[in-house]
Amino acid sequence: MRIKYSLPVVFFVALVIIEKENNIISRVSGKLALKQTPPIQPSRSGGAPAQRDVSVPPVGELTSAFAPMKRRLENYSDERPAASRRKGVLLLATTRTGSSFVGEFFNQQVDDVFYLYEPLWHVEKTLTLETGGTNATAAAGAYRDVLRGLFLCDFSPLESFIDPLPVDHVTASLFRRESSSSLCGEAVCGPFVKGVFERYRCRNRRCGPLNLTAASQACLRKEHRAIKSVRVRQLETLRPLAEDPRLDLRFIQLVRDPRAVLASRMVAFASKYGNWKRWAENRDAPVDDDDDEVKKLKSNCDGIRTSAQVGLGRPAWLRGRYMLVRYEDVARSPVRKAAQMFRFAGIPFAPRVKAWILESTRASQESAGIYSTRKNSSQQAEKWRFTLPFEIVRVVQKVCGPTLKLFGYKLVTSEEMLTDKSVSLIEDFW
Ligand SMILES: *[C@@H]1O[C@H](CO)[C@@H](O)[C@H](O)[C@H]1NC(C)=O
Ligand SMILES: *[C@@H]1O[C@H](CO)[C@@H](O)[C@H](O)[C@H]1NC(C)=O
Ligand SMILES: *[C@@H]1O[C@H](CO)[C@@H](O)[C@H](O)[C@H]1NC(C)=O
Ligand SMILES: *[C@@H]1O[C@H](CO)[C@@H](O)[C@H](O)[C@H]1NC(C)=O
Repeated sequence: MRIKYSLPVVFFVALVIIEKENNIISRVSGKLALKQTPPIQPSRSGGAPAQRDVSVPPVGELTSAFAPMKRRLENYSDERPAASRRKGVLLLATTRTGSSFVGEFFNQQVDDVFYLYEPLWHVEKTLTLETGGTNATAAAGAYRDVLRGLFLCDFSPLESFIDPLPVDHVTASLFRRESSSSLCGEAVCGPFVKGVFERYRCRNRRCGPLNLTAASQACLRKEHRAIKSVRVRQLETLRPLAEDPRLDLRFIQLVRDPRAVLASRMVAFASKYGNWKRWAENRDAPVDDDDDEVKKLKSNCDGIRTSAQVGLGRPAWLRGRYMLVRYEDVARSPVRKAAQMFRFAGIPFAPRVKAWILESTRASQESAGIYSTRKNSSQQAEKWRFTLPFEIVRVVQKVCGPTLKLFGYKLVTSEEMLTDKSVSLIEDFW
């Protein structure tokens, strides 16, 4: 009896410990963990077996009753690894929300995570219409199919979107290959070929063009897979992946204050955000919601909010598979937040990841580069308050109000409040 019940008890105690440490983890997984504790019931009565005077079966009978369970437990530990311990993590974000930095947590776990950085870039590029946008329905379907393939270590759905098409599954054009340690490891490196131009070649060693067959094999050898993407618009469109038992997928949605995101995009994508820059310089933002740029901003905010509302609404298909993370919380305590994400994903949090985070968040001034992940993160997270004029802030607050509110970002009511560092604009309730 003790063995039978001690498992649930251990499970429950573990949950309590996790729960205690986890008071910031998303409400979703928190509530879920509590919901998943029905085993607590038997453990109470099982705690006092002495009081049970009803016919205790002879030891021999007990032993034989235990045998099947013991066998099942053996099978559990022997057979499960390949199939079900394997986890998939999809980091969903939008541009300039710190997703490269957060994605790097998983990239650093190179021993057991196969990490891919923005593979959907190829899909979006191929499907971009002359108008500059994509057909959202068609894109969502393609994203889903390519992601399913990749989480199964099958690159072929992706291959058809790589331009030029890979030859014999070898390509020199994979977008930001160097951002995936897994694509630059010994097994995938391949002999360096003179004369082949590779824009995204490996940083720390000379590799040949990427052999996707070898990459697929390397992927299969890794315990877990993680993919970061800023391209998926609606979480709902990925429902078939959440329901695919082969993937055992976890979604981490990373969000950031839309005011900070806009400020960051105005620097990073200067030409695309020319209108905003002009408005900022002239302190003359459009009052009209019909302006194209303002409409774009609104649809952006609405998309993120809708996805989050799906996740936070805990539909059955997402139970235990969704976590919402605010970039500002990551910036404030990156190690703690990273540990929570790994725990949620069911992937051990390696000391090397922690070391990497500590090192990269400490490096302050020396860093450069727009996509740099080596920044003083807490300082960076607040920088926008001094670069984005109040007039622009007001526009963002007007069209993104519900999004700001959902994620716990406080509205500013004056220029003074905006630039007063002693006023926090982030609600702590998360
Ligand atoms: C355990 O695995 C073996 C081998 O796959 C199988 O024959 C057996 O039925 C399994 N036992 C249980 C209790 O599932
Ligand atoms: C978008 O793609 C879907 C599916 O491929 C198609 O049915 C639909 O007609 C397309 N919509 C537009 C506006 O082109
Ligand atoms: C790619 O890698 C696979 C597996 O390692 C190998 O069999 C194949 O020959 C490689 N292809 C090329 C073109 O080198
Ligand atoms: C990072 O920035 C914060 C806020 O300005 C500051 O308090 C902290 O000392 C900085 N850390 C380092 C290591 O530069």
